[in-house]
Amino acid sequence: MKVLVLGGGGREHTICYKLSQSLKLNKLYCIPGNGGISQIAEIPEGISLTDFEKIADFCKEKQIDFVIPGPEEPLVKGIRNYLEEKKIKVFGPDKVASLIEGSKSFAKEIMAKAGIPTAKFEIFDESSKAKAYVEKRGAPIVIKADGLCAGKGVFVCETKEEAIKAIEKIMEEKIFGESGNKVVIEEKLVGEEATFIIVTDGETFKTLPNSQDHKRLLDNDQGPNTGGMGAYSPAPVITPQLQKRIEKEIIEPVLKTLAKEGHPYLGFLYAGLMIVDNRDPYILEFNCRLGDPEAQVILPRVGNDLLELINMTLEGKLSEMEIEESSGAAVCVVMASKGYPGTYEKGKKIEGLDRASQIPGIIVFHAGTTKKNGEFYTSGGRVLGVTALDKDIPSAIEKAYKAVALISFEGAQYRKDIGQKAFKHLK
Ligand code: AMP
Ligand code: GLY
Repeated sequence: MKVLVLGGGGREHTICYKLSQSLKLNKLYCIPGNGGISQIAEIPEGISLTDFEKIADFCKEKQIDFVIPGPEEPLVKGIRNYLEEKKIKVFGPDKVASLIEGSKSFAKEIMAKAGIPTAKFEIFDESSKAKAYVEKRGAPIVIKADGLCAGKGVFVCETKEEAIKAIEKIMEEKIFGESGNKVVIEEKLVGEEATFIIVTDGETFKTLPNSQDHKRLLDNDQGPNTGGMGAYSPAPVITPQLQKRIEKEIIEPVLKTLAKEGHPYLGFLYAGLMIVDNRDPYILEFNCRLGDPEAQVILPRVGNDLLELINMTLEGKLSEMEIEESSGAAVCVVMASKGYPGTYEKGKKIEGLDRASQIPGIIVFHAGTTKKNGEFYTSGGRVLGVTALDKDIPSAIEKAYKAVALISFEGAQYRKDIGQKAFKHLK
């Protein structure tokens, strides 16, 4: 089969890596790709992620069997609808179902309709009313811009003043543009976060290995929020009993509700959870895709042929598949450029990739690299995701940091405590 992956980060390198192991794969393409991806997929020049017309022409020319969008942007902009009209298959939700990530107010309304446990909320389209609500409710309180904000649209506020300021920035100063036309204001939940991702054809779903991300830049969850500085899988906070409850109380109702609305969900669905009191699962957010860097620890632990899994799902035969989860653990440490998540440096030569990759159980995924004359250079905020597979989380942590120590580029920064959150559950 011939497959086109859309995206150019660590998640897409991981998807390409898994697909390239399939005996059913004849040809793999990726737009826009990156240095690491260029070693396993062909990257056509001059096509951007959201140029649907050029992507469609490319798919026709190369007779692509299906397209896998990695990030949310093309999905929320309706790539599935656009390509399907031209008889090109897309593994991802349609434009309306993608609003589960693209609009926080839409997502909250679906959660409410489905009766899913989530933080109590109100939606506002006028800043004066939003501020009055904050005055009445007090802090702590969470303010969320409605639309896509590249992961920056959520303000967890400890004081009323912070919350009022967040509303002003979002709704009056419009720091996120149109994405701030509405805000969701909700109660703050306290607990431990975990990532729960499923594959679904709209009716049947299969749960992928669970995981946990590290969103803050610095050790001990300090510093600014990032796209994710590392991940581990499995997340021991999710016990087998809890997994069953999440499937019953969150996944089944959301899929049923979306189907009832006329937009059955197809693709990867990401549930960002807060586990309250180590016991009760609440949904914080849905994403219409795999997580990044969660994919870098989830997919290497899946024994199935990813191409077959996706193809069977597209054919409505997911019920015939079972997810094979490896018994060990995976840990991914993200190496980022100096300055990230703000303005960051680029063009630094990366050394030591070969030596690190030679360690058994190490896979170095590229997130922001380019390849020039056989050498790799940094080109993004997050540069690499160094994934280690081993028998358990402590061994995988040790191995991941051994590999990280072999890799260098000027200004490289990474967290030293990835995976340690799991320890309290492992005793
Ligand atoms: P979201 O994009 O909705 O997942 O929000 C991003 C991050 O903000 C989450 O991963 C949480 O760390 C935090 N967050 C969002 N909603 C809440 C909430 N209701 N209570 C506490 N933290 C939250
Ligand atoms: N790592 C968080 C996300 O992919 O949304």
